[in-house]
Amino acid sequence: MKLPYIEPYKIKMVESIHQSTPKMRKKWIEEASFNLFKLTSDQVIIDLITDSGTGAMSDKQWAEIMLGDESYAGSSSFLKLEKAVKSITGFKHFIPTHQGRAAENVLFSALVNKGDIIPGNSHFDTTKGHIEYREAVPVDCTVEEAFEIESNYPFKGNIDLQKLEKTLQKSSKEKIPFVLLTITCNSAGGQPVSIGNMRAIRGLCDKYQVGFFIDGARFAENAYFIKTREKEFVKHSIKQIVKEIFSLADGMTMSAKKDGIVNMGGFIALNDSELYKSCSTFAIMYEGFITYGGMSGRDMGALAQGLNEATTFKYLESRIQQINYLGSRLDEFKVPVLKPFGGHAIYIDATKFVSDIPKEEYRAQSLAIELYVVAGIRGVEIGTLLADRDPKTRKNRFPKLEMVRLAIPRRTYTLSQMEYVAIALKNIYETRKEAKSGYEIEWEAPIMRHFTVKLKKK
Ligand code: F0G
Repeated sequence: MKLPYIEPYKIKMVESIHQSTPKMRKKWIEEASFNLFKLTSDQVIIDLITDSGTGAMSDKQWAEIMLGDESYAGSSSFLKLEKAVKSITGFKHFIPTHQGRAAENVLFSALVNKGDIIPGNSHFDTTKGHIEYREAVPVDCTVEEAFEIESNYPFKGNIDLQKLEKTLQKSSKEKIPFVLLTITCNSAGGQPVSIGNMRAIRGLCDKYQVGFFIDGARFAENAYFIKTREKEFVKHSIKQIVKEIFSLADGMTMSAKKDGIVNMGGFIALNDSELYKSCSTFAIMYEGFITYGGMSGRDMGALAQGLNEATTFKYLESRIQQINYLGSRLDEFKVPVLKPFGGHAIYIDATKFVSDIPKEEYRAQSLAIELYVVAGIRGVEIGTLLADRDPKTRKNRFPKLEMVRLAIPRRTYTLSQMEYVAIALKNIYETRKEAKSGYEIEWEAPIMRHFTVKLKKK
């Protein structure tokens, strides 16, 4: 018999999970105004709200924590991180920030003005927030296949080149500071972008003389998919693929809480020296001096090590195997999930799952609440709540896909815990016809409402 696949690590430290009953959770979620962000962590059994900053660091990363140099300027931890970022990405300049959205804030302060257009694949919500806050417009040019839940298209994060070229043609180049490519594309289901697509985007950016930036939060997972799905790169190492990716762009923003496998951190890396100078000024204003940018020395050391670990095939193989395990079990149980499975999460198709709940009643949120009450599993709505209102008309935007995302923290949960998640969803799926109504909004913030929204039962 073929030996099964096993995780390439063993556990050195454990953290207790707080158990609870459906009755307790029903009360807690009501007290939280049906907003899963408002629950406390001890009210949750398996926390899949995000894969961001929730991963487990390795022994070597913890060793770096002890070696942290907390000097304000020019710490050895900064130099270590700078060396790692430059050697992994190939970019000339590097500025640390406290997390990904801070990197967006600094870069966009230097580049984005009122009335600008930022084309890309589906922008992540903080990215969209930072663009719209500056009264600029994100334009989604993702390929149509991304919106076909069942399609097994291998690179659903790709940009539709015709859509992009049309957008570039329509606007003057002064209005488009850069094209932004998110890898993997979180909002489209953790789906990868191919190098072929990136090369074509580079070509269009050169033709229309606009910049090309990458949101690299999950760049290593994207590189794994390139290796396993794009013929030209089968024999390349992950680190070679990563170099190839970033050689095509002018710069990147990074949330190190994902593929840096740290709890906090981020950075900007880029080539242009003038832009580096202008970003440095904003970084000093918003983040801190340019040799720490909101990070402790110890965290910079752990990140340098984390980046090296995340760009190994061995680590990525186990990461993707775990996601595939959960996805395949759900598939066996006929629970409708987005295909192919993403790099950091499984996305459940709420439209199909709870089709009797009207879309105006936040059906994906309703399903996420049910999953919490039944099994203590906290996922997150990627649907109408997250899509927010149109900034001009203030009307709800109804996205093409209504999903519940189960984001899997890195190296944190075991396969038996994934099995628990799968069985919980199977049970809910079997009783899905009983769900007929959802929720309505009692209070919401003017922007990024999903974090603080208060809901009540319809
Ligand atoms: N870009 C992408 C693609 C992201 O997924 C995130 C965060 C950010 C930027 C912002 O980074 O959180 O470090 O400020 N995504 C998390 C998530 C929050 O749950 O998907 P941050």
